[in-house]
Amino acid sequence: MAPFAHARVDLDAITSNARLLGELAGGTPLMGVVKADGYGHGMLPSAHALIEGGATWLGTAFVKEGLELRRAGITVPVLSWIIPPGEPVGEAIEADIDLGVSDRAVLAEVVAQARRLGRVARVQLKADTGLHRGGVDPAEWEPVVEAAARAEEEGVLKVSGVWSHFACADEPGHPSIRAQLDAFHEALEVVEKAGLTPEVRHIANSAALLTLPEARFDLVRGGIASYGLCPIPNFDVPGLRPAMTLESKVALTKRVPAGSGVSYGHRYFTRSETTLALVPLGYADGVPRAATNKGPVLLGDARRVIAGTVCMDQFVVDVGDDPVAAGEYAVLFGDPGEHPAAPTAQDWAEVLDTIPYEIVTRVGVRVPREYVGGV
Ligand SMILES: Cc1ncc(COP(=O)(O)O)c(C=O)c1O
Repeated sequence: MAPFAHARVDLDAITSNARLLGELAGGTPLMGVVKADGYGHGMLPSAHALIEGGATWLGTAFVKEGLELRRAGITVPVLSWIIPPGEPVGEAIEADIDLGVSDRAVLAEVVAQARRLGRVARVQLKADTGLHRGGVDPAEWEPVVEAAARAEEEGVLKVSGVWSHFACADEPGHPSIRAQLDAFHEALEVVEKAGLTPEVRHIANSAALLTLPEARFDLVRGGIASYGLCPIPNFDVPGLRPAMTLESKVALTKRVPAGSGVSYGHRYFTRSETTLALVPLGYADGVPRAATNKGPVLLGDARRVIAGTVCMDQFVVDVGDDPVAAGEYAVLFGDPGEHPAAPTAQDWAEVLDTIPYEIVTRVGVRVPREYVGGV
């Protein structure tokens, strides 16, 4: 039996997006970013779909995610980049996962684990070029690079990559972009002087991939765009296909008189006698409570707005006198190519003052992912 609600994920859309991103990047190899359960789309199916579309690398935030890819038999190079104390660094080395190194302590831990295992660890040194989040601070860059070079000479480590991340690539023309590119070039010079020969140098996320050819280097990291969503508001990328559709059957409908207060706190009142439709998805499923009286929904061929407070498991839509019945599907967001009237994750992001990343990644575990397409 079909579930009452699901996030339908079109794997062919992910494959086609990967292909498109490869073309838009002028053939620069693509790393498909699959962290956070493939931005909520399902990590393993998304990884396979991205590889099918030509991605030659995969990127995850955590080693645990990288190990899951390996356990599933995925053999393409994988980079995992957040290494808090206690991460299974040894397992990562054994699984041939590239480790993103952002400070001396992590480098020392990787070297110690590689010596213990008698293996060569693959390390990608991350330079902080101005995001001031992860990455080695410029003042620390030389000593860290030199320490990595010594470990490479010792034969316990290979500096497989050097990389960084933009702060404002989603605002093309932002002055920090130029400054970060310059800082990245300087960081690369230090690496070259130390005699290191990384296989890949990379800094571009989806926004830079789409707008900044000089940020391509040897690899581009495509996250949100792989899933068909654009990181830059009001920036059209013809051919990009949103892969996720979030929809739910209406659980029940009821007629109520004018002046009825709806849902917790009575934050919505009916203007006239009307039909209310109950959609069994709530904030526990990733529909933000902030979507109260704001979230757009396609129901009964018309686009409407959530009526009243979003609850943990449900919300209400006022459908007026339209003949909406229990069992009909309400579409919260999807691909406009498939449902021209349906809201998009970008529409949700705009009404909630957030970004589409947050809309798709927060779809909860209670919502089954239903896959279409794929090999
Ligand atoms: C280090 C790093 N690289 C690449 C990405 C992918 O970014 P995007 O989804 O904007 O393409 C992310 C996402 O947050 C990231 O943290």
